[in-house]
Amino acid sequence: MSGWSKAARASGRTLALVPTMGALHAGHLALMAAGHRHADRVVASLFVNPLQFGANEDLERYPRDLTRDTALAAKAGVDVLFTPPAAAMYPPGHRTRIRVEGVGAGLCGASRPGHFEGVATVVAKLFHIVAPHVAIFGEKDRQQLAVIRRMVQDLDWDLTVVGHPTVREADGLAMSSRNRYLSDEQRRGPALALWQGLQLARQLVAAGETASERLEEAVRASIAGHRGTRIDYATIVDQETMDRQQIVDRRSILAMAVWIGETRLIDNGLLLPGEEQGRS
Ligand code: PAJ
Repeated sequence: MSGWSKAARASGRTLALVPTMGALHAGHLALMAAGHRHADRVVASLFVNPLQFGANEDLERYPRDLTRDTALAAKAGVDVLFTPPAAAMYPPGHRTRIRVEGVGAGLCGASRPGHFEGVATVVAKLFHIVAPHVAIFGEKDRQQLAVIRRMVQDLDWDLTVVGHPTVREADGLAMSSRNRYLSDEQRRGPALALWQGLQLARQLVAAGETASERLEEAVRASIAGHRGTRIDYATIVDQETMDRQQIVDRRSILAMAVWIGETRLIDNGLLLPGEEQGRS
């Protein structure tokens, strides 16, 4: 992989990297299409990173379908699909971890100890191996995007991080590889609780409510109204620092993690006081 990148760079090509864990959906494919708008060549990585899964999480059952993913990536115009084996990424004796303090500590970082350390470490390795000029990440995982931006800035990395808006199903559900764990009934009902919670918060903000506590309370009540949901968090934070905000401003996002039965879904969106609603 790094040999290909060196040759491409030497011949003056710019490179975009789209890191994924596979089970590709339209969200991933939109990131790959965006890659072509930012660089001459697009590399997508497909690696189910064991380091970012907790002991009781879904590493074993995480959906894997390399044949399908290869066809989809080719159709999206990906020039190289990089699929390293775990033993190559983490040979015996590897010990180094990257921890981004603050921004990676709360929300998913609190619920999933070690998760963002695993993400930052694998993304740092991918950045070194692929040496892209641009790396593209989805806003669907807004805290992950914030962690990567912080890491790139703090470690003086010579690359540009691009955030891509969340791609949704027609009924608002954010696309996710984990959506396929949902039963038809969960998919039609409780899985929509996050999107509906975000819409509700935006309506309340548009009507003039800016107190985070009241907004969070309303969102939690709305989510809890769906049977079969369990809220991990529904919190208003600054989109860059991930610090809790008391009052909503133009940097505020509502971030949510909700269990739908055995499946944990996340979603988030900007609240943007004083603006027309209906964004991604
Ligand atoms: P994965 O969940 O496969 O997601 C790969 C990329 O696709 C991430 O940048 C994610 O934010 C983006 N993405 C997922 N669903 C999206 C949607 N509905 N709309 C827009 N973008 C979406 O995130 C990871 O993998 C891993 O943590 C990784 C960064 C690859 C490191 O292992």
